Amino acid sequence: MRLTDTGDLWWKTAVVYCLDLETFMDFNDDGVGDFEGLAHRVDYLAELGVTCLWLMPFYPTPGRDDGYDIIDFYGVDPRLGHHGDLVEVLRTAKDRGMRVIADLVVNHTSDQHPWFKQARSSRTNPYRDFYVWRDEIPKDAPTNVFPDQEDGVWQYDEKTEQYYLHNFYRHQPDLNLANPKVRDEIAKVMGFWMELGLSGFRVDAVPFLDQSDPNVDVHELLRSLRKYLTRRTGDAVLLGEVNLPYAEQYAYFGGEAADELTMQFDFVGMQRLYLSLARQDARPLAEALRERPVLAQENQWANFVRNHDELTLDKLSDAERQEVFEAFAPDEGMRVFDRGIRRRLPPMLAGDPRHVRMVYSLLFSLPGTPVIFYGEEIGMGENLDQAGRLAVRTPMQWNSGANGGFSRARARRLVAPVTPDGFGPAHVNAADQRTDPDSLLAFFEKLIRRYRASAEIGWGELTLIDSGVDAVLVHAVQGAEGRMIAVHNFSSDPQEVEFALPDGMGPSSELVELLRDGDVVADDRGRVALALDAFDHRWLRVHDGDDKRLS
Ligand code: GLC
Repeated sequence: MRLTDTGDLWWKTAVVYCLDLETFMDFNDDGVGDFEGLAHRVDYLAELGVTCLWLMPFYPTPGRDDGYDIIDFYGVDPRLGHHGDLVEVLRTAKDRGMRVIADLVVNHTSDQHPWFKQARSSRTNPYRDFYVWRDEIPKDAPTNVFPDQEDGVWQYDEKTEQYYLHNFYRHQPDLNLANPKVRDEIAKVMGFWMELGLSGFRVDAVPFLDQSDPNVDVHELLRSLRKYLTRRTGDAVLLGEVNLPYAEQYAYFGGEAADELTMQFDFVGMQRLYLSLARQDARPLAEALRERPVLAQENQWANFVRNHDELTLDKLSDAERQEVFEAFAPDEGMRVFDRGIRRRLPPMLAGDPRHVRMVYSLLFSLPGTPVIFYGEEIGMGENLDQAGRLAVRTPMQWNSGANGGFSRARARRLVAPVTPDGFGPAHVNAADQRTDPDSLLAFFEKLIRRYRASAEIGWGELTLIDSGVDAVLVHAVQGAEGRMIAVHNFSSDPQEVEFALPDGMGPSSELVELLRDGDVVADDRGRVALALDAFDHRWLRVHDGDDKRLS
């Protein structure tokens, strides 16, 4: 890789860790996590190998959508601390070589935001045009994102006798992005947080920004925000939440011009991964990887297994979704919005450590940048007693003590109860796993070390290799940075595979095992034979004579 080609595209090989301040670590023992708590856990995250923190919304909020309902884009929710505490986190993270990004939620505000209070006070208020108003409900109105809570996207405002748009909850009015004043406000908000030291944003709900209004060209908006970001600081990212088919995602990257979103979550790949897991058949995932557009050099896929929302299965067919539901959410109560699952991974896989590790090995070896959700590194479960998506947003489990070490407040004062069952702190916690070399946490640390020493995962070109066995995914990544092959057995049965090294590798290559001891040798025709255990996962570094790496 030449410096002149790449600049410093740190996000290409990052390890992103998403957390919600309020459930991460409570330092002042009031039952709510806070910035000071996080500051004391930055070393834990550095030790894990995290290179970028993604902070979920920490802004002042009435808290009716877990902070995605904001009343002040420049503020800090006083329950979490103040700007000084946030800056301490930024400084500590920077000192440990970690960047910080945060949610940018500009599709809507809370209805308690001063702009909306003004806007709804009269039709002639200067803030009226900050939101989207109509006299009648348009005929082709889309369905609401939360169909079990809201029956539409237009809400009547008694006082001013018009309807306002809300793609999400009715207490989250959509901002009018056709209004240049609103766009300027968004730029100012971004500028503010970047001056304070953020390295970019996770952009919430991107596809909704168009508001089905021909006057709003989201692509033009993203291009201008991206330009602005680049002018202000060359290396900040926009990581978009865009749950759309690949072709549309490609457009949100700006296509070849690469001048819109820097990164996007791979929702399609994630959903096909679960279909593969349900079927113990690697082909649905392989198909997604084959269809996934190859991106411009500065763009990147963000791979993930779980996030703070429902595990959405909306891009699968009805029959496929049903298969995944039956495998991983057999009870109706484990599902939400008719399209997703409100569980974390380990309980879905019946806590089988081989299976769980296989999935994370895959996450870290697939081309792209891995994003993990707090608690995944220790294998936390969900609390189905909590409503809807809150099931997966329980407090981080630091130790086996009271409240899992999250807080010393009385249990009933906690922002959310800790997980009660076999995945609770007595069995799953960071302190115990830190001293156990066989723990999931130790496995994550190793995966992250290997991932960080394998820049080809972030940069290289993907080749899917025919393993001859449907249950086994074999993929290679190669580029100027190096070459590796990863093998994943989706089956609960052992499998024997034999495959050919792709062009550019071998024949007669020496393959070094990166996750365990030993070497594998390709024969002189460049073929590799492997006996795989149930849910086996192997990373093989392909060496040629003059490789300068350690492994
Ligand atoms: C995004 C968030 C989700 C939130 C919604 C509305 O989809 O991930 O948690 O409810 O936006 O802001």
